[in-house]
Amino acid sequence: RTIGLIGVPIEEGAGRQGCSMGPKALRIAGIAEALASLGHSVTDFGDVSPDAGELALPGTAHNAAVVAGFAAALADLGETALAEGAAVYLGGDHALSFGSVAAALRFAERQRRALHVLWLDAHADFNTPHTSTSGNMHGMPAAFFCGEPGFDGMLACPKMPATRFHLVGARSIDRAEVDLLEARGADVNDMAAIDEFGIGAILRRILGEVERDDALLHVSLDVDFIEPETAPGVGTTVPGGATFREAHLAMEMIHRSARMISLDLVELNPFLDDRGRSARLMVELAASAFGRRIFDRPTQPA
Ligand code: ARG
Ligand code: MN
Ligand code: MN
Ligand code: MN
Repeated sequence: RTIGLIGVPIEEGAGRQGCSMGPKALRIAGIAEALASLGHSVTDFGDVSPDAGELALPGTAHNAAVVAGFAAALADLGETALAEGAAVYLGGDHALSFGSVAAALRFAERQRRALHVLWLDAHADFNTPHTSTSGNMHGMPAAFFCGEPGFDGMLACPKMPATRFHLVGARSIDRAEVDLLEARGADVNDMAAIDEFGIGAILRRILGEVERDDALLHVSLDVDFIEPETAPGVGTTVPGGATFREAHLAMEMIHRSARMISLDLVELNPFLDDRGRSARLMVELAASAFGRRIFDRPTQPA
């Protein structure tokens, strides 16, 4: 496949600094080389440069203008990448998904296909400026693209029903988010569900729904989906996350489904990482989503 890499050095959606260094760390960890080694044709579009706007949202939403600027630039560049093949967004905090999912929704609409979104995250990121207690916009993108009110002036793009929003790995959801997710019929799979049924069964069911709808799939991978001892390079760690093996299996199943058009790699904070471990893991997971099979790898250096 043709894969476009898009760097998104945004950190203004998060509560602390450091995610702006994420794109560089993912490149140093070898994202382009890893995907190219699988036989893909990889183009690096470089880092997106947003226009500074003046948006302020009613309620609490810090740096809304910066987030909106990134979203607008990303929605356009993402569409360009999707027209040529798949898009991989190198984050950057999770607020980049305002733009990456907008690009996927525009693309899907032009193809007259439905879009499903798989959100691999400890959090739901389903707050609005009216419900958020932190005001951090990385906790809001899913509410935006599922059409919740409170984002006027953000970005013009199609919206999707929350029934096509599949959250996997959740273990820290705010009260107001729980209520909204339930009211909208979102597909919430918490860590208890992973423990009880296994991540394989959960992914099989979700990917089956995508198949049934003959839909396209956007995958959003937050570093904090993974257990913090395995992936420490993130500002919002929550204990009890997905294991190395569960995360890889999810990616391998996504590859086999052949439905994914775009992938977010978000919330990597190199300032908090342990000698590049989390960056390298994110690269490995992206490679698995694009066809690397973990058991094909030589266990000894060649
Ligand atoms: N729910 C919390 C909030 O709204 C945490 C969100 C964390 N999001 C993330 N992308 N890491 O602030
Ligand atoms: Mn997130
Ligand atoms: Mn998270
Ligand atoms: Mn469903």
